[in-house]
Amino acid sequence: MNIAILAGDGIGPEIIAQAVRVLDALKADGFDIELEYGLIGGCAVDATGEPYPEITHQLVSQADAVLLGAVGGPQYDGLPRPKRPERGLLAIRKALNLFANLRPAILYSELAEASSLKPEVVAGLDIMIVRELTGDIYFGEPRGIEVRDGQRIGFNTMIYSEAEIQRIAHIAFQAAQKRNRRLCSIDKMNVLECTQLWRDVVEETGKAYPDVKLSHMLVDNAAMQLVRNPKQFDVIVTGNMFGDILSDEASMLTGSIGMLPSASLDNHNKGLYEPIHGSAPDIAGKNIANPLATILSVAMMMRYTFNQEDAAQRIEKAVKRVLTQGLRTSDIASQGMQVLGTREMGDAVLSAM
Ligand code: IPM
Ligand code: MG
Repeated sequence: MNIAILAGDGIGPEIIAQAVRVLDALKADGFDIELEYGLIGGCAVDATGEPYPEITHQLVSQADAVLLGAVGGPQYDGLPRPKRPERGLLAIRKALNLFANLRPAILYSELAEASSLKPEVVAGLDIMIVRELTGDIYFGEPRGIEVRDGQRIGFNTMIYSEAEIQRIAHIAFQAAQKRNRRLCSIDKMNVLECTQLWRDVVEETGKAYPDVKLSHMLVDNAAMQLVRNPKQFDVIVTGNMFGDILSDEASMLTGSIGMLPSASLDNHNKGLYEPIHGSAPDIAGKNIANPLATILSVAMMMRYTFNQEDAAQRIEKAVKRVLTQGLRTSDIASQGMQVLGTREMGDAVLSAM
């Protein structure tokens, strides 16, 4: 297992350090794991002038999987757009063709208190959002800001090809087959042609999956249903921009953005694994960030890239056990719980493993 580690900015290095300890533990148990380190985001801009330098591209191209912390920070806000840390993230997704973004939103029963919704609305919540990650308005051309008729205009292009929709639909149908066989595709077909095509192609692709119950929902309604009755969903599939927004919303149902991992996959199970939260520069360097989403990202890596279901479950069970023991980082702490720092949470997961 050749794994590239890109810690990135803010709390990235701290949370990655704990995930690396988990990888080291697997290595000590006989897994053939090699780690190599590289730069992405703001730290890469500082060192090389580019958020996704060529040397990082070479490193991740040769790796089987990438573990990423987070990118960004206020000190980079003034940079021109192509030099922004977020561009590094968009560039690596595109360069590695990581078109399938899997974002599970699971409510751990131990954390039900942390949700802003009533416990009965969210208890047992287990949704998988499949977000298309290399197309849509994020990458569509033409794009820009220019002067027309004496005033500035800003424009972007929402665009999807049939092939792009088909391949993400297949991933989503297959994910649904492994779960409760329900797939909800989300679009805005009442207004946007691009998403009419999305709906048509998802519908056509669904003919090959008669065992999966397919439904469609408009994105505004989906945003509402996610807080009204989130348990109606099993797998959700949607485009890049709607998926960006809905996955943040879904994560908050679980009360703990610090708990949620993600996988971004190409067609050959190569993957980039990262927590869905950001670089949290306000708490960086204080040993208080929650490393569990990053540790759970290692579990997803074991499952999706390396096909090591046992190792994945070992990590997930260790996290669950730590929560059952009443151990918490401050972001997920409720009354009566023992609050741990980042490193101490890493210790607890390792001993539970
Ligand atoms: C995410 C983030 C990124 C995105 C940003 C940082 C470019 O919000 O992974 O959801 O919009 O895709
Ligand atoms: Mg986002």
